[in-house]
Amino acid sequence: MRYKANDHHPHLSAAVLQATAEAGANIALTKYWGNANDDLRIPANESISITLDRTRTVTTVAFHPDLTEDEVVVDEVRLSGPARERVVQHLNLLRERAGVSWRARVVSRNNFPASAGIASSASGFAALTLAGAAALGLDLSPCDLSRLARRGSGSAARSIFGGFVLLHTGARDEEAFAEPLHPPDWWEICDLVAIVSRTEKGVSSGEGHRLAPTSALHRARVARVAELNQRILDALARRDFAALGEAAEEDALLMHAVMMTSRPSLLYWLPETVMLMHRVHAWRREGVPAYFTIDAGPNVHILTLPEYADHLRTDLLALPGVQEVILCRPGPEARVIPNPE
Ligand code: DP6
Repeated sequence: MRYKANDHHPHLSAAVLQATAEAGANIALTKYWGNANDDLRIPANESISITLDRTRTVTTVAFHPDLTEDEVVVDEVRLSGPARERVVQHLNLLRERAGVSWRARVVSRNNFPASAGIASSASGFAALTLAGAAALGLDLSPCDLSRLARRGSGSAARSIFGGFVLLHTGARDEEAFAEPLHPPDWWEICDLVAIVSRTEKGVSSGEGHRLAPTSALHRARVARVAELNQRILDALARRDFAALGEAAEEDALLMHAVMMTSRPSLLYWLPETVMLMHRVHAWRREGVPAYFTIDAGPNVHILTLPEYADHLRTDLLALPGVQEVILCRPGPEARVIPNPE
C-alpha cells in the first residue's frame, strides 16, 4: 500500500497541490513519555496503542506557488507563534523530500477537544503528514509515513495505522516507526473517554518529554515498561482483558509518577480525575472489567468490554464533574479522503 497524490484524486492543477486526509487519535496502553533523542523525537521506550474510531482529525494541505508564508488554521483558529512554527517545521520536512518550495495553507478540524488528554497532536500530525505527502505526490510506504509523522509528534507515528499498534524506538531515525499488530476488528475493546475538563493543558507533552529524565523514577519506568509491553503483546494475542488492563493501568500510574516527580513537577490530575480512578477500582471490586488510563491531562480513559460499555457510560454521566463521555472503539488507519468543496 503506497500513497500517491494521483491515486486519491486530490485536486491537482498547475497552481495548487492539494490533498485531504483523516486520522484517528489513539490511546496508549503503554505510554510514550520521554525521548531518547529530543530533536528527532525518538522515544525512550516502545509503546502500544489503540487507534480510536470516534476521535478524528481531518486536515487539508494546499501548496500554492503564490503564498508568501504557511497559513495554519485549526478548528477555525489561525495559529501563530510556536504552535504554527511546529507545523511549518513539519511542512519543511515534506517540502525537502519533494524538492518543492511552495508555502502551504493547512486547514485542520478535530471532532473532540484538543489538548485535554486526548492526543490531538497524534491525529493532527498523522493527518498532516498524510495529506501533505499526498498533495506533494510523495511515494511513501506506511512505515515512511509513520517515521515522518513521529518527527511532528511522537504519538502521531502510531495514528498512521489502525487497530492495535506498536511504536518502536531505536538509536536512529530509521528505526523508530510504528507497525500494526492487529486490525481494528481483532478485539472490540471500548474506551470510554470521560471528559472532566476542556481547558488547554498548562504544560505541553513536548515540554513534559524533556522533563522526564529529571525524575528519579524515569529510568525505573523505562525498564518496567519493556516488561509491560511484553505482557500486553501476550494479552492482545490471547485476548486476555484483565492482563491487558492491569498492565495499561500500571503504566499510566508509572508515567504520572514520573510526571509528578519531574523538576518542576507536572500534576495533570484534577479532583475529578482521582474520583474516577476510585470509581474504576470500585467497579473492579464489584466484578466489572474496567481499567483506567490517563494521558497528559485530567481526562480519564476507561477501558472495558463491549457488553459493559453502555451501562458504564450511563453511570459515568451521572457522576459530578463528568461533562461528556465519548465511547470509542478500535478504528481504522489514516487515509486520504476527497477534498472538501
Ligand atoms: C501522554 O505525542 O503528544 O499521550 O511528541 O511532543 O507531540 P509530542 O508528544 P505526544 O506525547 C504523547 C504523550 C502521551 C502518551 C502517549 O500517547 O503515548
